[in-house]
Formats: sequence, C-alpha cells, structure tokens
Amino acid sequence: MLYVEILGNIPEMARDEVRAMLELAGGKITGQDYLFLKIDADEKAFPYLNRLGLAHEYGELIVEADSVEELLEKAGKEEWPIRGTFKVETETMANCRFDVLDLPRKLGAVIYAKGFKVNLSKPETLVRVYCGERLYAGIRLHFFDPKDFEKKKAHRRPFFRPISLPPRLSRALVNLTRAKAEILDPFMGAGGILIEAGLMGLKVYGVDIKPEMVRGAEINLRHYGINNYELRLGDATRLEELFPDKKFEAIATDPPYGTSATLAGRKRDELYRKALESMYNVLKEGGRLAIAFPADFDGETEGERAGLRLLGKYYQRVHKSLERYFYVFEK
Ligand SMILES: C[S@@+](CC[C@H](N)C(=O)[O-])C[C@H]1O[C@@H](n2cnc3c(N)ncnc32)[C@H](O)[C@@H]1O
Repeated sequence: MLYVEILGNIPEMARDEVRAMLELAGGKITGQDYLFLKIDADEKAFPYLNRLGLAHEYGELIVEADSVEELLEKAGKEEWPIRGTFKVETETMANCRFDVLDLPRKLGAVIYAKGFKVNLSKPETLVRVYCGERLYAGIRLHFFDPKDFEKKKAHRRPFFRPISLPPRLSRALVNLTRAKAEILDPFMGAGGILIEAGLMGLKVYGVDIKPEMVRGAEINLRHYGINNYELRLGDATRLEELFPDKKFEAIATDPPYGTSATLAGRKRDELYRKALESMYNVLKEGGRLAIAFPADFDGETEGERAGLRLLGKYYQRVHKSLERYFYVFEK
C-alpha cells in the first residue's frame, strides 16, 4: 500500500491529478481521509507519482488504526523498511480526532526497540504519522520540495512575462490530460506549461500569436534542457492549418483572460469559442483537454457545444478580480 498527501488549495483537482496518474500507472485510490489518499499501487507507479504537481509527498503505508494504542500495538508487529537512522513526525490534519502530541516519542520508542537508531536532526528515513478520522503511519518515499517549484517560477526564467500559471498548477493541468507521449499548448506564452511537460519527458508542441513569445518560449525550454519541442507562430483558432497531418493525444492551456493578458485585438468570448472548436479538431478520439477560463465564461456549456465531454471542473479564486475554473474535457 502507498499513500499520497495532496495539497489543500484545490483538493478535488489534486485528488483527480493523482487518479489520472494512477490510471496511467495501473493503480487506484482506495480511500481518502481529508488530504491523505490511500493508494493501491506498487513501485511501477513511482515514475508517474513523481510527476505530480499538487502533492506534498508520497510514501509506503505501514499501519492504520482507530486509536493511538492500536497504532502502537500494530507498529510493534510490523517489519519497518527503515534504512539507516529514523525520526517520527506527525501531520495533524484539520480533521484530526486524536491526541497525538506525544505520539512521535511513543512510536519512536516502539521502532527503536526493533533495533533502529534515532536521529532527530538528519534522519535517513522519515516515519510519518497522519492524524485524521483515523491514524496512519508510513515511510516517506518522496517529498515534493517547494524550493524545486520556486526555482521554476516565471520570474526565474531567462524570458520573463508575468502571465504564467504557477509551476505546480501547470504540472497538474498536464497530468489531468493523462498525456503519455506529447502535449500541445496553443496559447503557450512564455512556455510555463510546456516547461513542466518537457521536464516530465513529453514531446511538447506550442503555438503563440506573438513572435516574441515563440522566441521567448524557446529560450525558456532550452534553459531547462528541453530539446524535444516544436513551436509555431500562429493562431490558436486555426490549429488545423498549423498542424495539417497531426492529431494530439493531449492539450493543456491557459488562454489570455483579457485583463492584463493580450487578446491580440480579438473579442475574448469569441476567441475562446473558436479556439475550443479548433482544439476539438486537432484532438484524437479519447484525447483530453485541460484548460483554464475566467469564472464569467461558461466553459462547461461552450466546451460541450464544441463536442467535448466534461470530466472535471475545479474552482480557484486567484485574487479579488480574478476567479477561474480549470476544466478537463475528453473528445
Ligand atoms: C495567459 S498567456 C499563456 C501563459 C502560459 N500558459 C505560460 O504559462 O507562460 C496567453 C498567451 O496567448 C497568446 N495569444 C493570444 N491570442 C492568441 C491566439 N489567437 N492564438 C495563439 N496565441 C494567442 C498571447 O500572446 C499570450 O502569450
């Protein structure tokens, strides 16, 4: 058994991102306790879980219990796959029902009694206890370090435009499409989504109507060592002409919202509608589109009008004057 701790900002989107990766990896979510997901999958899932954007960590689940006493008793009977020294850390979630203040010390003593050494400052293995409706103890296998995402934020790239989605969200959009080999972003801007997709090993295709963006996105992709790309200068409402012999398995994109972003002289809603139709035309049957729209545009109705089937819709309030939805569609 594995576990994933998702981030709490847009929890349904984070959970569905995990689900999409497990669909590719051949595993499934078998339970959820607030931000803690129980996962039925083995190590074949690691490369896919490593792609996650909206996750805090994943690990191996060792014991589950309905009381502190039960947890300690079960922990005493388990084989703990600990390498080197260890430390116990508790994650008290907002729905925690137990008194876990003393739990790190008590569980630490149980594991210590099995012959493992404690190191509180630099442990080689982190034992994690989650407190929610139930108690869960496991071993951290991978931590999604915020610093790694911070390094990739828009202002750290050689070509900077303040229009990019945060890297974690870009990653989640790509993952929600279940892209295995390739992805298209028809409004690529400075290439934020394509950078994340390229770092996952996907071939990336990008389009922008502005020549400076096409040049800038290429500079950014190269900066992150991504070489497997095709970028085109052109219009997201005429993708069939830009890629005449090509159908895509996945599209992820963040079109301009018409506030500070550029609409290149077009009416916003008309641009969105025409782009949805064009994206539909270049998607494979069964291919997926993940896209952001401001909340005052009815993406659900318009996507369905273009022939797409809605799979998911997630709300985010960015600030006072910007609320948006992320949509996932299938052709
Ligand atoms: C919000 S930005 C995309 C940001 C991008 N996701 C990123 O992370 O860097 C939207 C981009 O769409 C481009 N654009 C506007 N109208 C377009 C059109 N009709 N076809 C293609 N690109 C267009 C703009 O030039 C702008 O670079």
